[in-house]
Amino acid sequence: MGVKLLLEKAHVPGIRGYDVYRSEGGYRSVEKALKMAPADIVEEVKKSGLRGRGGAGFPAGMKWSFIAKPEGVPRHLVCNADESEPGTFKDRYLMENIPHLLIEGLIVASFALGSNATYIYIRGEYAWIVDILEQAINEAKQNGWLGKNILDTGFDCEIYVQRGAGAYICGEETALIESLEGKRGNPRIKPPFPAVKGVWDRPTVVNNVETLAAVVPVINMGGEEYAKIGVGRSTGTKLISACGNINKPGVYEIDMTISVEEFIYSEEFCGGIANGKRIKACIPGGSSVPILPANLLFKTAKGETRYMNYESLSDGGFATGSMMGSGGFIVLDEDQCIVKHTYTLARFYRHESCGQCSPCREGTGWMEKILKSIETGKGKMSDIDLLWDIQRKIEGNTICPLGDAAAWPVAAAIRHFRDEFEWHVNNPIECLNRNFGLAHY
Ligand code: NAI
Ligand code: SF4
Repeated sequence: MGVKLLLEKAHVPGIRGYDVYRSEGGYRSVEKALKMAPADIVEEVKKSGLRGRGGAGFPAGMKWSFIAKPEGVPRHLVCNADESEPGTFKDRYLMENIPHLLIEGLIVASFALGSNATYIYIRGEYAWIVDILEQAINEAKQNGWLGKNILDTGFDCEIYVQRGAGAYICGEETALIESLEGKRGNPRIKPPFPAVKGVWDRPTVVNNVETLAAVVPVINMGGEEYAKIGVGRSTGTKLISACGNINKPGVYEIDMTISVEEFIYSEEFCGGIANGKRIKACIPGGSSVPILPANLLFKTAKGETRYMNYESLSDGGFATGSMMGSGGFIVLDEDQCIVKHTYTLARFYRHESCGQCSPCREGTGWMEKILKSIETGKGKMSDIDLLWDIQRKIEGNTICPLGDAAAWPVAAAIRHFRDEFEWHVNNPIECLNRNFGLAHY
């Protein structure tokens, strides 16, 4: 709480434009980084402990070090701006309000990785942000931060913006790469990881927007100083997009030492539950991560305070914990129906499955059908166990994580809210009334 590294200047009037951004200290990290050896930049990022902010939390410095060798082979940096995880809108906020921060981070990262052609792959629905980014890129180029021989270092770099066409799966890094190459966005089997065989079979690093923006404070402060913010392996700050039944939905920057309870109830952040209701549950990291009932949200199963960081949110594994994920924080109040909510998510994943592997293609369809039938009062008690079996058969048996992402919400909903599923089966007429609440405190 308190520390702002990414959004500190986001509300300065005119910060979207180059002149104000530069006058507020923008592009200092490029000046500093381009005097360093690329390997030393990678080392700073390693020391910072910065973890991938797209959802997986993989250490960014380690990922960068995978493509450091062999020298001389063309390689690419790709910024994943295909933010499509339901409940996640932090990258949109960052790109919309302070686009030069991303461009600055991209230039530093491109230099560190030796990428002369860097791509921003942005979700098609963010059409207006394409214009914002292209303007920022043009301004950076006019001022000598992009193009040929940047700052007389001999380093050339161009940044290209590529729009997606509306498929959630293109946020998965290998599907993104396929799409960038002009093909259908079908995920590839990993390994080989993109670090070995990425865009046009060249070594490629794919990083999320927020991760790349965070490279700017890492270089400005130095990796060790950055690592002092936060706690444990949750270093630095994290953007959280908060939504659902809260008083103050929005994008917040936290330093990962704040408790979940404080984040929800403090006026600085979510401002409490809307309309004076009680909280029922929360999905803390975007729709793919397990839902947590209120009794496991503020305290872990061990009775310890739960904090807004990678370790604490996943404490207890999937049995009693969840994940930080992408930081898409969705709060559900006592009136929300978990079955309806789970059905909505199942529809989404069925629609977005690319269909390559049968457990995902068929399983997501079956889960949607069964959930619809339970939700509309036509379900049987045995359907709940059938749902459980189907999600288990999807998890871990697919090419990409979309299969897991479809299975986990169903598993967590049954694990924590089985009584609500049974209530639907036992009350086929009443379950059509959405305004009911079951106690989970
Ligand atoms: P992952 O864990 O498979 O990979 C993480 C990163 O580390 C990848 O870039 C991968 O290439 C790299 N990596 C891992 N092991 C490696 C190795 N041995 N050698 C080289 N590189 C290696 O996870 P993935 O598929 O990148 O992301 C899944 C997450 O994305 C989910 O947990 C979910 O939270 C999140 N997500 C976020 C969305 C958003 O809109 N922000 C949308 C959908 C999912
Ligand atoms: Fe496609 Fe689903 Fe298989 Fe991923 S898990 S490759 S989305 S079918």
